[in-house]
Order: sequence, then structure tokens, then C-alpha cells
Amino acid sequence: MRVTMIGTGYVGLVSGACFSEFGVNVTCVDKDVSKIEKLKQGVMPIYEPGLEKLVEDNVKDGRLSFTTELGPAVKGADAVFIAVGTPSRRGDGYADLSYVYAAAEEIAQALDGYTVIVDKSTVPVGTGREVETIIRKTNPKADFDVVSNPEFLREGSAINDFMRPDRVVIGTESERAREVMRRLYRPLHLIETPILFTGRETAELTKYAANAFLAVKITFINEIADLCEKVGADVHDVSKGIGLDGRIGKKFLHPGPGYGGSCFPKDTLALVRTAKDAGAPARIVETVVDINDKRKKRMADKVVDVCGGSVKGKKIAILGLTFKPNTDDMRDAPSLEIVPALQAAGANLSVFDPEGMEEAKKMLSGVEWCENVYDTMKDADAMVLVTEWNEFRSLDLPRVKKLMKTPAMVDLRNVYSPAEMVASGFNYIGVGRPVPKKG
Ligand SMILES: NC(=O)c1ccc[n+]([C@@H]2O[C@H](COP(=O)([O-])OP(=O)(O)OC[C@H]3O[C@@H](n4cnc5c(N)ncnc54)[C@H](O)[C@@H]3O)[C@@H](O)[C@H]2O)c1
Repeated sequence: MRVTMIGTGYVGLVSGACFSEFGVNVTCVDKDVSKIEKLKQGVMPIYEPGLEKLVEDNVKDGRLSFTTELGPAVKGADAVFIAVGTPSRRGDGYADLSYVYAAAEEIAQALDGYTVIVDKSTVPVGTGREVETIIRKTNPKADFDVVSNPEFLREGSAINDFMRPDRVVIGTESERAREVMRRLYRPLHLIETPILFTGRETAELTKYAANAFLAVKITFINEIADLCEKVGADVHDVSKGIGLDGRIGKKFLHPGPGYGGSCFPKDTLALVRTAKDAGAPARIVETVVDINDKRKKRMADKVVDVCGGSVKGKKIAILGLTFKPNTDDMRDAPSLEIVPALQAAGANLSVFDPEGMEEAKKMLSGVEWCENVYDTMKDADAMVLVTEWNEFRSLDLPRVKKLMKTPAMVDLRNVYSPAEMVASGFNYIGVGRPVPKKG
């Protein structure tokens, strides 16, 4: 089989590499010349564990290649995936579909023989229909079907998520397209992955419903954490207590600084817009979007608290900048709210992230960029654990204490135990956990 992936970002590159690992012949296309040049030299444009080796092996075996030329890559392909970005449209929160529609037009001009166009980008209900209209208008003679196949992988564990997903959702009414998709996903069928065939609109909505539900779950536990802080309860035990209920489930019940990343913020917002336009407002999701926005900004207050009411002129060490560990993705990361809020309050910031510094430098300024985590702490008045990278999980606390001016930690990921931190002589604040009194 021959597959073409339009858009070689987090989703396109991982999906393309994984399909080639399944034995499919894959061409990844991107209009970003430097990205494709890097890939041709074996340099990954993103940080994703295991990706470099997977790409290298499949390029070597001749199943995976990269190009900026969309036309030749589309000609003769059995399936052409659209995996371009669908960011929030500036100003109104609708999904910006301009990249999807531009790709559809370009694909249309190059179609040659029956081709399945697969929308892997996260797109609002009705986008598949619109893509079909664009292709038909651009190339009335084309023989094609448009399928929705939303992607559920998570950055940081993307390869495993793609190779062993909880499910695959395929939305199409066409039996011919279904057959192509069945062949493509056969390796997953063989390991008994549930493959759900639905209508196209259903598949499109399923992706938004999944992300919105997860955003609700995170926001719910974040609010319970706030309540725990007021009443002296421990949110970890509450999470365990409710998560052991099979109807609720354990996952996504870890409180923190509010969800961020390349998907939840924009997808919740887009769902709110779609739902309102359809006359079925998603009021829970609307509220969640609002709560989460405010929460990220409020996290800076915890730092002010730990510093005794003001951070003016104080040095604060920031541990982690990416929206989660094991990725270099900075899109909508909580750090992008926390850092400017602390700067506005007069703090001097020293920052470190194991993989996200290059991306972060494009988005943050006026901070001291450090070489390693301990460098951030020299003479610091407080440190803030923003992203739970493994290397921040077992800091050398005596060394940290010696380096800092005052040993204080705001642990926005509840990595450390409040009792142990207090016993080690730290002024410590987590999220939703009571802190024992000193001595
Ligand atoms: N990142 C994730 O974790 C994730 C997970 C599931 C779904 N998604 C969805 O997948 C889609 C892609 O997300 P991403 O994070 O991979 O985006 P990304 O920004 O990392 O990558 C998109 C790529 O598409 C390229 N592109 C845009 N228009 C093009 C065109 N006409 N021809 C060729 N290349 C083009 C861009 O240059 C870019 O490299 C989005 O809709 C997103 O919501 C993302």
C-alpha cells in the first residue's frame, strides 16, 4: 500500500513513521522546507521518545521518505492523510481550517485513480463534507472518498499510543473507503484493537467529545483540590477514593496548574463554538474553558504566598516549561501564563526545561536561561515545579537547600510529599494537599 501524509508535525510524522513500521510505503509531505531538510538528514524536528530510531530504521528500509512536493507524493497513493494544524482562529476560538482546506485543494489537483482522503487533523463536524466539496469543485473528474480518522495519540508516548491505541475510529459511509482503511489498520486489528466504523460526522465529533471529557475531568479534580486546600483534605486520597470506582476510573484525576498543550485548549473552545452554532450549547465545557484559563493565571499567586506576600525583586527558579514532560511542545503551556504573571509582579526568573528551551525561547523573554536544573536555584527565594519531568522527581534536596537563598517550593504537580519537604526544612506548597506544621 502507498500512503501520503500531508503535514509532518507531531501527528503526521509519528503516524507516517508508524504506518511505515507496519510495512506501508509512506511519503511525508510538509511545506516547511527546513523541517523536511532536517528529516532528510535524520534530524527530528520535534522531541518524541523513540521517534528518531523509528524514522531512521524505516528510511533505511526504504519505506519512509520526506518531500516538500505534494503533487508527485499524492499521485498513485491509496490513501492521502491530512494531518495539518487546526489551531484556534485568532479572536473567535473557532478551529482555523484554512490549512485543511488549502491542503484539500492541492490534493485535488494531483489525484490520480481512486484515492481515499483521510482527515486525521482534529476538525469540527461538517469539515469532511466541506473537504469533499472542495475536491469535487477543484477536480470534478476525481475518483475519491473523504474519511474521518481522528487521532488520539498523546505527545510523550505518541509511538506507543499509535501502535497500541485504545481504539481506532473511522468515519465513512463508503464501503470502498472502509476496505482501504481496514487494510491499512490490519496490524492493529490483528492485536485486537477495537476498530470503530461510524458515520463521518460521528467520527469528527467523537474526537472533540473525548478531549472535552478529559478536560472536564482534569478541571473537576482541580476544583476539588482547591476545596481540599480550604478544608484541610488531601486531594490525592480523594482521587484514589473516587478513582477506584470503576464508573469513574483512576486516570486524569491528578490536580495541577490547569490543562494546556496543543489540543485541549483549542479543542474545548472549538467544541463550545460548534455546539452554540448548532443550538445545543455545551455549557459544562464553556465553564471548564473559563475555569481553566483563570486557573493558569492564578498559579502565580501560590508563588507570591510562599514568598510571604510579594515576589518583587525576588529570584524565582522555574523547573519545566513544556505543557507536559517528554515533549518539547510549548503550545498553551501553563508556564506561558505563570512566567509573565511573576515577571509582572516584579520577580526575576531563572528557568530550565530538559527539552523545551529552544521552543520556549520563541515565546518567553526577560528570563535567565539556565544550563541545568541546579543552576536555576542559585540564590533563589523560591522554586516552582511546573512540569513533572523525571529529572525533577528526585532532586538532591540538601544540595538544593545550599544553593537557594531560602528553601521554598511551589510544587504544581504534587511530585513531592508535603511531610518530607517540611521535614527537609522547606517551605512547601503543593496543590490540594495539607502541609504539616513545622517541628
Ligand atoms: N499534537 C498532538 O498531540 C495531537 C494529537 C491528536 C490530534 N492532533 C491534531 O492533529 C493535527 C495536527 O497537529 P500537530 O500537533 O501534528 O500539528 P503541527 O503544527 O505539529 O504540524 C502541522 C504541520 O502541517 C504542515 N502543513 C500545514 N499546511 C500544509 C500543507 N498545505 N502542505 C503540507 N504541510 C502543511 C505544517 O508546516 C506543520 O509542519 C491538529 O488538528 C491537531 O489538533 C494533535
